[in-house]
Amino acid sequence: MEVVHISAECYPVAKAGGLGDVVGALPKYQNKAGITSKVVMPMYRTPFLYNSDWVVDYKAKAYMGGWEFEYTIIKEVNNKLGFDLYLVDIAGLLDRQKIYGYADDAERFTAFQIAVVHWMSHWNHRPTAVHCHDYHAGLIPFMMQHCYDYQHLKAVPTVLTIHNAQYQGWLPWAQSMLIPKWDLSKKGLLDWGGSINPLAAAIKCASKVTTVSPSYMQELMHHANGLETLIASEKNKCVGILNGIDHEVWNPATDTYLTAHFDVDTVTNGKQKNKQNICEQFGLDATKPLFVFIGRLVGEKAADVLPAALHTAIGAYGAKASYMILGSGEPLVEAGLTNLAFANNNIKVSLGYNELLSHQLYAAADFLLMPSRVEPCGLNQLYAMRYGTVPMVRSTGGLQDTVIDMGDAGGYGIRFTHANETDIVHAVGRAIDVFENKTHLLWMRERMMQINHSWEQTVQSYTNVYKSL
Ligand code: ADP
Ligand code: GLC
Repeated sequence: MEVVHISAECYPVAKAGGLGDVVGALPKYQNKAGITSKVVMPMYRTPFLYNSDWVVDYKAKAYMGGWEFEYTIIKEVNNKLGFDLYLVDIAGLLDRQKIYGYADDAERFTAFQIAVVHWMSHWNHRPTAVHCHDYHAGLIPFMMQHCYDYQHLKAVPTVLTIHNAQYQGWLPWAQSMLIPKWDLSKKGLLDWGGSINPLAAAIKCASKVTTVSPSYMQELMHHANGLETLIASEKNKCVGILNGIDHEVWNPATDTYLTAHFDVDTVTNGKQKNKQNICEQFGLDATKPLFVFIGRLVGEKAADVLPAALHTAIGAYGAKASYMILGSGEPLVEAGLTNLAFANNNIKVSLGYNELLSHQLYAAADFLLMPSRVEPCGLNQLYAMRYGTVPMVRSTGGLQDTVIDMGDAGGYGIRFTHANETDIVHAVGRAIDVFENKTHLLWMRERMMQINHSWEQTVQSYTNVYKSL
C-alpha cells in the first residue's frame, strides 16, 4: 500500500496547530505498520529546511491560469521523520517563512496543488490512495478527476480528512481560470453557495471523507459553517476517526524540553519540579493550583470569553490559584488578557508561539482549560492527560470523545456545557476543590496517564478506509 499525504503543515517542518502534529505522526506510524506513507507539503523557509539534507527529486513547469511557473520537488534523504518527505518549491509563492496569513494564500495553495498533481501525473506508477488534509489540498481530488491534463490519475482513490471545517478556502468564480483546463460540465462539483469552495469540492469528489473524531462527524451535519446539508448528503462515505498522539514526542519520561522527567509512579514530584520552574520563570506561586490555556486566541477556542471569565474567577476565588496563558490570535483578546495580567499578579500571559514553553506548561500545570466552541478533535487535552494534567473541557467534538467528567464513573476530567463565563468559573471552582483533595487528584492523574491514545490503534482505522476504496 502506498499513501501520499498532502498537507500545508507537518511537524517539525512547519506547524501552526494540530494539523501539523497529525501529519507529522500518522505517516510515521503507518510506515511502522508496513504502509509506504509519504508527505508532500510546501517548501516554506523554516529551520527544518536548513537543518536537513535534500536531493532534487523532480523539476518541471506547469500553468496556473496564463502564468507558467517552474516548480521543484526536493526529498529529505535521511528518513529523519520516519517517512519520505517531499517539499514543493515555487519561487515567489512558497518561499516564505510563514505557513498562512498572506494576501495571496489562494494563489499559493492553488499553485502548490497544481504542482503536486502535475508531478504525480508523471509518475510511472499509481499510488494506492492520495490523502488530502483540509482545504489547502481540497482541489486535488477534483483536479485528478476532471482536469484534462491529469487523466493518468483519474482512477486513483482519494481520501479527504477534515481537521477543521470552519476554514474552506473560498475563491470567487473570477479565479476559476487558476485551475488547469477542466471539464466545464463539472462546475457544480467546485461550487458551493456561489463561490468555488475547495473543502466542499473535496467532500464531493473524494472517495472517502474522514473527520478527526466521531462526535465531530455527527456535529458537522448540524454545524459545518454552511456545509451541513452537503455533509448530511455525503454521510455514507464519511467516517469519524479519533486522532492519536505521538507518544515518542509527547512523553514526560523522555521529553527533552522538561526540567524534570516523570512517569505515572513519580508524577507528584515530577510535576511539582516542572511547576516550580515555570512559577519561578513567570513569578507565580507554585503552592497554588496552576491553570493553563495553550492555543490560538480565536473564537473557535472561545478565547474571547477568557478575559472576563478569568477576571471573575480571580474575583470569586481570590488568590487561591495561578493562571498562565500561552497563545496568539485576535488583537482584542490579546489586549484583554494582557490588561488582566497587568492588574493581577496571579495571572501571566505569554503571547506568541512557543513549542518549548507549551511542553513545559503541559508538564507543570495542574489543570488545562479548553472551553472551545468548536473542537474537531483537540490534541491539547490528550497531551495534558499524558502529562498528568486534568483537562477542563467544553463538551463538544473530540473533547467529549476523550474526557470523562470526574463526577461520572471512572472520570478524570472536568466537563461543562457552555463556552461562557458562568460555566468556566464554575469549572475553576470544581478544580480548586479537587486540588485540595490530594488523594482524588493523584488517582485522576494516574488514571489519565495510563490511557492509550497512541497512533498504533488509529492507524488500523485508516488502513480500513484505504482497503475499502
Ligand atoms: P488546533 O489545531 O485547532 O489549534 P489542537 O488542539 O489540535 O488545536 O492542536 C494545537 C497544537 O498546537 C498543540 O500541539 C498545541 O500544543 C500547539 N499550540 C497551540 N498554540 C500554541 C502556542 N502558542 N505555542 C506553542 N504551541 C501551541
Ligand atoms: C484542527 C482542529 C483540532 C484538531 C486538529 C488535528 O486544527 O481544530 O481540533 O485536533 O485539527 O486534527
